[in-house]
Amino acid sequence: MTFDRRIKIAPSILSADFANFGAECRAIEAEGADWVHVDVMDGHFVPNITFGPATCAAIRPHIKGVMDVHLMIAPVDPYIEAFAAAGADVITAHIEAGPHIHRTLQAIRNTGKKAGLAINPGTGLDGVENLLDMLDLVCVMTVNPGFGGQSFIASQVDKVRRLRALIGDRPIHIEIDGGVTPITAPLVAAAGADVLVAGSAVFKGGSVSDPSPYGANIRAIRAAAEAAT
Ligand code: DX5
Ligand code: ZN
Repeated sequence: MTFDRRIKIAPSILSADFANFGAECRAIEAEGADWVHVDVMDGHFVPNITFGPATCAAIRPHIKGVMDVHLMIAPVDPYIEAFAAAGADVITAHIEAGPHIHRTLQAIRNTGKKAGLAINPGTGLDGVENLLDMLDLVCVMTVNPGFGGQSFIASQVDKVRRLRALIGDRPIHIEIDGGVTPITAPLVAAAGADVLVAGSAVFKGGSVSDPSPYGANIRAIRAAAEAAT
């Protein structure tokens, strides 16, 4: 993985056909996805359950590019090795998931994977400053985590702007997760985000048998974001 700040679209397979993950991953990449975003939920840290490392390992051979694993689980540390072994390129943990996020980020980096830190809409940037040298990515949640298809929380745009200033020249991606559409993408792109996760806005209207809407949706988000940068 090389670092750059160009806009990257990362479809979330939370909105894909769960019985067809392999084909869905191949389809979104063929239609222009830059990264594949994989939402892991435990029914404890968030009020929804998705899947774990075995599913990540099963879909890995169907992803040519970056597998971006977003862990919405607590505790995190006992599972880091398993997600690394499953082939994640980026492993993101929540700052709210436990008292020892610095140790968690160290553990992720020790596996050789890129380390991401996710922050919920109700969490400020105070805790991020002391972690900057541990980070490859900060994921600003623009919905409360747990479900796809929620509305973008506009108050987070200013947080993205402040985070971008805090990061300065460091090679740290700013990822946006939740409610990204061609309407909201320009707001966060202008504020300094470079990785845009989108679930419902990418998968709507398409399927593995007719994936061309995925491509049109990805192009619409990318064009709107790029026009704002
Ligand atoms: C929410 C997940 C998101 C979600 C985004 O907890 O982390 O990745 O899939 O879905 P949309 O784009 O539909 O808001
Ligand atoms: Zn996510």
